[in-house]
Amino acid sequence: MSPVDLAPRHPRDRLIVALDVRSVEEAEALVETVGDSVSFFKIGMQLSFAGGLPMVRRLADRGKRVFLDMKLLDIDNTVEKGVESIAALGATLTTIHAYPQAMEAAVRGRGDSGLGLLGVTVLTSMDDNDLKKTGYSQNAESLVENRAAAAAAIGMNGLVCSALEAARVRTIIGSDMLIVTPGIRPEGSATGDQKRIVTPAEAISAGTDYLVVGRPVSQAEDPRGAADAIVAEIEAAL
Ligand code: C5P
Repeated sequence: MSPVDLAPRHPRDRLIVALDVRSVEEAEALVETVGDSVSFFKIGMQLSFAGGLPMVRRLADRGKRVFLDMKLLDIDNTVEKGVESIAALGATLTTIHAYPQAMEAAVRGRGDSGLGLLGVTVLTSMDDNDLKKTGYSQNAESLVENRAAAAAAIGMNGLVCSALEAARVRTIIGSDMLIVTPGIRPEGSATGDQKRIVTPAEAISAGTDYLVVGRPVSQAEDPRGAADAIVAEIEAAL
């Protein structure tokens, strides 16, 4: 497989729409509805476990990019072989929990496939208290910083983090790695269960490369119009 260029070429490429729906039919319908307005889609656990994995190849064959958000963490051999299989599916990006051994295994599995490996430092649903309960002595901020530095040293392609952490993370990882941020809400849209949210323009100003947006597009009355409005906001902020 030829290496994939991971840098966004057009403002539109920076929007990744999360296909967080219950069935392949719903996912295919959303892809049709947004049409040329969206070039990059995220497939996570919900759709994967509902028969969505073959959509990775189908979307790639239609010239779309796919972020397969699997948040891998397992013994080294399993992570390495899992990443090899994800690369063969035709995904552009995937996620690994940013434990050093898992990231090293993922880098071996990536080989020269061109698959982009993103480290998940600390889930944004976890605060310092949750980390303590999990047995960590570090707070979230220092754990994010340590794991970001490890990801860069190991040769990961980028990190998933909150846009609120992006500027700090950028100083640790430098300009060559990607920063991908969820928790985006255009002005006036419902926040849902996201607690720490930013607008598309704020995320771009913080140094984000790719914005993951789910419900503000998928639950919109006009998903295509919602995607176009986000792209316009990204373009204006660049
Ligand atoms: O609907 P919404 O825009 O909140 O969707 C955000 C997407 O990003 C979901 O697929 C969610 O799982 C993902 N995500 C997140 N926060 C993280 C990591 C991933 O919201 N820290």
